[in-house]
Amino acid sequence: MDATATTDFIHLYEPGGDPARAPLLLLHGTGGDERDLIGLGRAVAPGAALLSPRGKVLEGPMPRFFRRLAEGVFDEDDLRRRTHELADFIEASRARYGLQQPVAVGFSNGANIAASLLLLRPEVLAGAALLRAMSPFAQPPQADLSGKRVLILSGAMDPIVPADDVGRLAKTLSGNGASVDHRTLPAGHGLSQPDIGLLQSWLAAG
Ligand code: MLT
Repeated sequence: MDATATTDFIHLYEPGGDPARAPLLLLHGTGGDERDLIGLGRAVAPGAALLSPRGKVLEGPMPRFFRRLAEGVFDEDDLRRRTHELADFIEASRARYGLQQPVAVGFSNGANIAASLLLLRPEVLAGAALLRAMSPFAQPPQADLSGKRVLILSGAMDPIVPADDVGRLAKTLSGNGASVDHRTLPAGHGLSQPDIGLLQSWLAAG
C-alpha cells in the first residue's frame, strides 16, 4: 500500500487560535461523518485546533471506523488494521498542519477506536475522552499509558454498552498507567447536557 492510501482520510481541519489548547481529534459514531462533532469541539474547547476524519468502513450507507460482526461484536483484525491506519493519518496530519499531540474526543464507535488507539499506538494521543465507549478487545494488549489522561462518560440507561464492559475498559486503561476519570450519568447512549459540561471542564483542566 502506498503512503497516500495508508494516511489519507476524508477530514475537516480547523486551525486553532489558542496555542495553549491541545488540538482535538474528533471521532464520530456509526452513521456520522467528519462534520458531526465540529460544533461539540468548538463548544468544549474554544480556540483548539480541530481534526475530524471520516471513518472509512461502510456498514450499508453508514460510515464507521472499523468493521463489526454484530452490535457490540467487533472484527478485531479489522479493528487493529484500522487503528494503525488512523494512527498513521494522525501522524501525517500533525506534520502537515504543525500540530502537537491531540486529545481524542470520540463518541460511540469513535470512542471505541480511540480506546484502541490508546492500547495499540499510545504515542499518537495526549489523552482521550471516551463518550459511551466499550472495551475494544476481548484480550486487551499491554500498553504504557503513563501520563495519559482519560475521561470515560457512560450512560446508566445505555442499551448498547453494558456497565461491566465499560468498567473493564476503565480497569484496563488505569491498569496500564492512565489517569482515568470514569463517570456514569443518568443518560442513554446519546449525549446529554451534563456530558458537555464534564467534557468541557476535563479538557480545561488538562
Ligand atoms: C460499535 O460498533 O463501535 C459500538 O457498537 C457502538 C456503535 O457504533 O453502535
